[in-house]
Amino acid sequence: IRVAVIFGGRSGEHPISCVSAGNVFEALDPGEFEVVPIGITREGRWVLADGDPTRLAIAGRVLPEVTDATGEAVALAADPTVPALRAGDGLSGVDVVFPILHGAYGEDGTVQGLLELAGIPYVGAGVLSSAVSLDKEFTKRLLAAEGVPVVPYAVLRPGMELSEGDKERLGLPVFVKPARGGSSLGITKVTDWAGLDAALAAAREVDPKVLVETAVPGVREVECGVLEGEDGGPPEASVPAEIRVVAAEHDWYDFEAKYLDDASEFDLPPNLPAEVVERVRELSLKAFTALDGAGLARVDFFVTADLEIYFNEINTMPGFTSRSMFPMMWAASGLDYPKLVTRMVRTALA
Ligand code: DAL
Ligand code: MG
Repeated sequence: IRVAVIFGGRSGEHPISCVSAGNVFEALDPGEFEVVPIGITREGRWVLADGDPTRLAIAGRVLPEVTDATGEAVALAADPTVPALRAGDGLSGVDVVFPILHGAYGEDGTVQGLLELAGIPYVGAGVLSSAVSLDKEFTKRLLAAEGVPVVPYAVLRPGMELSEGDKERLGLPVFVKPARGGSSLGITKVTDWAGLDAALAAAREVDPKVLVETAVPGVREVECGVLEGEDGGPPEASVPAEIRVVAAEHDWYDFEAKYLDDASEFDLPPNLPAEVVERVRELSLKAFTALDGAGLARVDFFVTADLEIYFNEINTMPGFTSRSMFPMMWAASGLDYPKLVTRMVRTALA
């Protein structure tokens, strides 16, 4: 089975996608899968990469990158300046695509649309589900309509400011987030309204549409993995995990705490009453189904001191780095990394 693994890409999460891809290459059994590694540079150029996982790892604090020098340029369309993907060598010769791309131009339905057009099966959610799930505004609107609790928020479209009424309604502190982002890039916790403008500017570097959300004091972050069912069965939820940021210099689970510093620990399963853990699994499955999920997703929640559960966000192509929660939660649920990746590719082909 020839699997094209597409990684890198045009979003700020480019390096995380590279790390995820390196791990996926290592996990795909060469006896069953022939991997075609396709990197996308930050500028959007497609290159046939060599797929050496060691070059895709984080070295110290240096993040990996797909560059034009990574490999021979390839094009999906007939771009006269680069050799076209050759039959048997590129997309036209692959059985399935694993688009391990995070964020915009990859996790947002764009690549999925291209693959639909080309008639190539792929791992993960379809066009609409990807597009909605990456957009924190529309995800919340749809899930709130399903009765899933979400924290109070305001949406600021390009050019909009936060009204005094919204400031009062949301209260401090708030998180200011790009509507369509990931890996906590562009997110700021604002504890004084004087810091709002700078936070909005940082978020708008990622996405001109921004969400301002109430930061509920003392919340715990709990995540849960979901996989599409096998043989047409219902989707399955993993053992959830709680992430705890333990380093004093990190107030919350930001980019550095996620990938660079040894700043977080996790409890798998969370140290919470069994019924709360079970409710997290139920809500994860509900979110996955309500958003037309396919293949996989990681659903993230906040749990308050009173054990109230709020949906935070969903990731249709969650991180697959060695620090990423999705593979760890499935390993704890009986599917180790190679089995997990194999199942996802087989699901896409089914
Ligand atoms: N957006 C990152 C990759 C995650 O959700 O794990
Ligand atoms: Mg995310």
